[in-house]
Amino acid sequence: MIYDIVKYGHPVLETPAEQITEFGTEELERLIADMFESMYAAKGVGLAAPQIGIGKRIAVIDISAGQDPNSRLVLINPEIVHTEGRQRDEEGCLSLPGFREPVTRPKRVTVRAQDASGKTFEITGEDLLARALCHETDHLNGKLYISHISALKRDLIRRKVRKLVKAGEWA
Ligand code: NI
Repeated sequence: MIYDIVKYGHPVLETPAEQITEFGTEELERLIADMFESMYAAKGVGLAAPQIGIGKRIAVIDISAGQDPNSRLVLINPEIVHTEGRQRDEEGCLSLPGFREPVTRPKRVTVRAQDASGKTFEITGEDLLARALCHETDHLNGKLYISHISALKRDLIRRKVRKLVKAGEWA
């Protein structure tokens, strides 16, 4: 099932998500499949459950955008455990369509998370994967990438979104 993507302004995006405590269930498998389907349909490389209106600590990432099945990543209850270096590049979010801003992130990131069966694993990513690991973990903490840009730029985006809401072009 393809879910609609929740857009900036909805409180679920700015609320810390809840831990997942039940693993190996059909419900969880279905949610993971639906999240991948919704992410590919929206042409994203990452999607966190709050972005489909579900306040749970689960995110999916595929930096190959569906080209390489081996790059499909499911992160449940993820935590960043190590970061190294810095990179600065443009970042966007499916919940803020039409906007992109340069964001400084670590160059190399290690995340500890659980898989669908509840098994704990660690993954280390560089460059785009490091960025995606940070961006999606942020989502589960109720944070959007615009919290990492200047207040001036953030206010500009807020004003533009407000105009789009008024025009009925942001739903
Ligand atoms: Ni996002």
